[in-house]
Amino acid sequence: MTPLTDDKNLEQKILDENKRVHALENKLYLSRHPEQTNFFQRNILNKALDSFCKILPVNKNRIIDIGCGSGYVFLPMIAKGYQMTGVDLSEEMIQALKENLDKEKLSRSELIVGDVVEFSKSDITPFDGMIVSALLHHLYDYKSAVRKFCSKVAPGGPLLIFFEPLRQKINSPIRYGLHKRIAEIEERIYKKEMKFRKIPIFEDDYEYSDYQRQFGGIAPEELREILEQEGLEVLKISKYCARRYGIPAFIANSILGTANTFNILAKKRS
Ligand SMILES: C[S@@+](CC[C@H](N)C(=O)[O-])C[C@H]1O[C@@H](n2cnc3c(N)ncnc32)[C@H](O)[C@@H]1O
Repeated sequence: MTPLTDDKNLEQKILDENKRVHALENKLYLSRHPEQTNFFQRNILNKALDSFCKILPVNKNRIIDIGCGSGYVFLPMIAKGYQMTGVDLSEEMIQALKENLDKEKLSRSELIVGDVVEFSKSDITPFDGMIVSALLHHLYDYKSAVRKFCSKVAPGGPLLIFFEPLRQKINSPIRYGLHKRIAEIEERIYKKEMKFRKIPIFEDDYEYSDYQRQFGGIAPEELREILEQEGLEVLKISKYCARRYGIPAFIANSILGTANTFNILAKKRS
């Protein structure tokens, strides 16, 4: 595929397509993405959130979920008792999230519909902690976006970048071949499951919205450099293999040792 890079209106097209596909995804977003909800990935999410909360300075509880979608991270964090802000381009995704908040949780929530890049340029007080989950690969210029996000984390505050597609080198063609084979089999099962559950999937609609995937994903080492330049200390980079279903994810990680996803935990210097 020729990279989609030479179009003058590319940035706007990426935004428009993200709005359109996530309006379609809305309430059923997480049902369509079992790679985020299977037991293997849930366990990784829970551990990542626990590590994030552990390094949050005492008595600090104002957290932002950048690109919060339908609440994959927002909901477990609000359940822990934090004061949560969520920003997302899609009104429909925000609405889906809202529907899962009772009165008390709603009183601790601030939900904003808008472009995260514009939001991060605005004059807002930095947050005690920030989480960015499965967002960066949707952005036209994720590197400068991350720089702006960093300026909105208060000194001493944690930043978790979670579940981004990993740009990887292929070291072993055999292992990579097996990795691809498992993915193909799993994809067939996934399509059958979605059909059986009458959940439409929108494969042909993702030409621009997953923009960074055409470059093979994102390299965590490049993010490390940016975070360090912006005054954060990188505490941990985890690379692993996410799969639609928990058992193939377990096999991929414990036997093949391949990776297609990463998470980064960092902390703003005081
Ligand atoms: C893959 S979903 C992830 C949602 C959620 N963070 C999660 O982990 O499930 C990506 C989300 O980013 C939002 N998004 C994409 N581009 C955006 C932008 N420029 N500004 C704000 N939100 C954006 C989409 O609307 C969508 O809800």
